[in-house]
Amino acid sequence: MIGAAQDRIDGPLKVSGRAPYAADHSATALLHGVVVSAPIAAGRIRHIETSAALAFRGVVDVFTHENRPPAATRPVRYKDLSGPSGTPFVPLLDSRILFAGQPVALVVAETYEAARDAADLVRVSYDEVSFVTALARAVVDEPQGYEDAYEPRGNSDAALATAPVKIDAEYRSMPLYHNAIELFASTAVWDDGNLTVYDKTQGPQNIHLYLRLALGLRVKTIRVINAYVGGAFGSGLRPSHTSFLAALAAKHLHRSVRVVLTRAQAYGVSYRPDAIQQVKLGCDREGRLVAVEHRSVAATSTYEDHDENIVGWSGLAYACPNVTLQSRRARVSRPTPGDMRAPGATTGVFALECALDELAVAAGVDPVAIRLANWTTRDQNDGREITSKAQRECYAVAAARFGWARRNAAVRSMREGRELVGWGMAGGVWDALVAPTPTRARVTLRTDGQLEVAAAASDIGTGTYTILAQIAADAFGLDAQDVRVRLGDSTLPMNPVEGGSWMAASTGGAVAKACDKLKRTLLAQARARHGLARGVTTFERGRIGGIPIGDIVASGAKDLSAIATNLPDVVTGRKYVSYSHSAVFAEVRVDEELGVIRVTRVVTAVAAGRIINPKTARSQIVGGVVMGIGYALHEEGLLDHRFGKVMNANLADYHIPANADIHDIDVVFVDEHDDKVSVLGVKGVGEIGVVAVAPAIANAIFHATGQRVRDLPITLDKLL
Ligand code: MOS
Repeated sequence: MIGAAQDRIDGPLKVSGRAPYAADHSATALLHGVVVSAPIAAGRIRHIETSAALAFRGVVDVFTHENRPPAATRPVRYKDLSGPSGTPFVPLLDSRILFAGQPVALVVAETYEAARDAADLVRVSYDEVSFVTALARAVVDEPQGYEDAYEPRGNSDAALATAPVKIDAEYRSMPLYHNAIELFASTAVWDDGNLTVYDKTQGPQNIHLYLRLALGLRVKTIRVINAYVGGAFGSGLRPSHTSFLAALAAKHLHRSVRVVLTRAQAYGVSYRPDAIQQVKLGCDREGRLVAVEHRSVAATSTYEDHDENIVGWSGLAYACPNVTLQSRRARVSRPTPGDMRAPGATTGVFALECALDELAVAAGVDPVAIRLANWTTRDQNDGREITSKAQRECYAVAAARFGWARRNAAVRSMREGRELVGWGMAGGVWDALVAPTPTRARVTLRTDGQLEVAAAASDIGTGTYTILAQIAADAFGLDAQDVRVRLGDSTLPMNPVEGGSWMAASTGGAVAKACDKLKRTLLAQARARHGLARGVTTFERGRIGGIPIGDIVASGAKDLSAIATNLPDVVTGRKYVSYSHSAVFAEVRVDEELGVIRVTRVVTAVAAGRIINPKTARSQIVGGVVMGIGYALHEEGLLDHRFGKVMNANLADYHIPANADIHDIDVVFVDEHDDKVSVLGVKGVGEIGVVAVAPAIANAIFHATGQRVRDLPITLDKLL
């Protein structure tokens, strides 16, 4: 079962529209809430006029900071498990405006249409203050400089001064906005003092904690469910405005309330921060690195300190004795940035891998060869050994499938018709984490023989239901289809948010351990009651020694259950650290007259430990490649800094790759056996797929055109 290309067990429900998402849930006399958003980036609400909205037919109430129903007033009560340091934003707390798109009112009505129309009748006047939303401006305005993100090693400055080959380049990237297909939504169902909140989140227990503290609710009176999530990519790691607003209104009105943000309003929740990065690299004539310097400044809000690891990868991906890694934040009047698929690495590895390509060109070394020349199996940032790193195999396999050996190193050397053809590559790295907090799973065998797995984990579309079924099925010699998996419910055994690509290793490990426990109980009962011979321990087709599992459970007349907890192995962690790795090779075709860029081929090889399900794992990597193509060529949050607003807050103007943008994507997993990384040898595949895609494309564009574009996205105007 483990290792089989299993179809998603939740697939039929999803394609037939029977998997309910947060806004699909209904309730008796359900009310609808529509959010009114601030159009300014900074200042105060001078006056808010709700009488016309209140008089609108069907409107039940309009909530603003002036009549906010009882809820915690101290921002510390709104801290969530995924939040950074700083003061969390609290909806409708007071008159201050911290970012454009901030909720200033919630209109609640009997129908969605009434709430939407009445929302237009809420009149708000503001006292604006001056603000900065441009990163480049904020960098200049703020006096504080870089800080060491990691302990410097050697003397990079001196090494650069004498390096025979060196480059010094600045890379820029735009803010990227979350555009998961499922909108931010919460349906808060009120039932006689109890609240069940169906929420678009990556962590039902995170939302449970947040709402409990914010609204002062008792543990048992609130339940959060996110059984199905229509994409999240990090946008659901923290509570969105809807969680609080829907629950607040429901608690106050003693009615069920659904709140859904519009696509445009989603641009006021979270985004991948824009960054300005400087990379200096020096090497000898053979391409061996003698110095690495990587400095980054990334956006954060005026009220929280979002921080992601942008520069750290440059100190561990390649062997180098002289390294300086520094970072800083710059405050802008926008919502706090958040995590987006491989946060930090997607940004930092883009700069590193483009810089390394520039260095390879300067040294006259093949791009693959320069990476191999700087091979390391140690995370030099902290000296720990990397548990496994089959990245050399990634380069070899992907290069062979791509045909890299046929590449002419000269720029503008390949062309077909009006198009210049370019081949570029990059290497990728991402954490292979086991969640640091206890991750639990319960496995139950029912008297009818049904096997059930339960955990408060979330399947954000990645295939978690399916792989957990496979792990449990494997233990008992069943088919994955025979296993019932329950996820996305705060009442189930404790799990962290689904993030950092750690769920397969963490919840998967807990399921495997719980199955081991349950098997021991079952074996003992089979020996005691069914005369099972000692030494028979292998489960096959749901039987042990020919005895059906269901018969063993039934003879005891009660369900058998086992709970196990997974945690990182701290002893191993002192000496070892784990990463997943990749190689990405890209072919681009650039219309010489028009500058139009097409990514016609991507080959990526991924080393991510044991692959539980090659089918769902491949989908994760394909999705990551598509996202990476968007990051390289299309996606950019365009702000008008006079108004501090995102001007393309919709799917028409904020372009994410469409079918026509996507051509051949070839994914291959390289075998990697790692008995230290996690219980099952799993590393996780949710994020590694996106990491090295943008630099591979940027490097291919250079190879095609001879032009180095160092600011993303690489739109055609930058090539003309
Ligand atoms: Mo992921 S950005 O850790 O949801």
